[in-house]
Amino acid sequence: MAVGIFDSGLGGLTVLDAASKRLPDVPFAYLGDNQHAPYGVRDAQDVYELTCTGVSRLWDAGCDLVILACNTASAAALRRMQESWVPSDKRVLGVFVPLIEALTERQWGDNSPPREVSVRNVALFATPATVASRAFQRELAFRAIGVDVEAQACGGVVDAIEDGDMILAEALVRSHVDALKRKMPSPEAAILGCTHYPLMQDVFQDALGPSVKVYSQADLVAESLEDYLARHPDKLGDSVSSIFLTTGDPRSVSDRATQFLRRRIVFEQA
Ligand code: DGL
Repeated sequence: MAVGIFDSGLGGLTVLDAASKRLPDVPFAYLGDNQHAPYGVRDAQDVYELTCTGVSRLWDAGCDLVILACNTASAAALRRMQESWVPSDKRVLGVFVPLIEALTERQWGDNSPPREVSVRNVALFATPATVASRAFQRELAFRAIGVDVEAQACGGVVDAIEDGDMILAEALVRSHVDALKRKMPSPEAAILGCTHYPLMQDVFQDALGPSVKVYSQADLVAESLEDYLARHPDKLGDSVSSIFLTTGDPRSVSDRATQFLRRRIVFEQA
């Protein structure tokens, strides 16, 4: 048994990396659905079906708890999965709530009514599917009032990163930040609402300027996972080693993963 981390591709490795640094004794089972990435341009039904298939594979690998590191899956599929698909002895958690808790400076489990918070203008950078779902705004509305969210669908960035073309990825990030600034000239905070974007965090920060606080989810999700496992130690797992699974070509996925994380990662066929 291990803690499962699901993503459409390589981006979830940013979450895996932060989680394994914070929880070095916890074994993780990572599944990247590289064969079907990117999810960000798929419709909600498609994302739902692919995500259920991927999570089932992680259950087969012995996981009782799966983190949907993928924002697109969290936005387009998580609620439906939790309402009608996840068995009672399993858990699937998403990545929006930790981000929103941090943005609104609320403690874990604070279920008090929504209230005014210190930020007013928030930029959200995410995939087209995540932006279309409005899931971020929906979750935020449970916790905060008076926050204006301007969302920018960052077409092309995930493909460029998955292809290892970081020059194109940087150019696209800068043009998406420009587009966002035309709609919201002075955001106070920016959310990187896609697992791939922490790999471009410096570019986002540079393009947005030093006064904008950039929230990147990897560390926030890792912190929230630590908190969750402290409260639910039965979901911790008793496996001793981590595994990396992909629906794509294990050799090329391993090479790109090794390049991203700057340590050797070996994927197996899912
Ligand atoms: N990992 C996905 C996310 O966090 C983005 C990649 C994709 O479009 O598949 O939204």
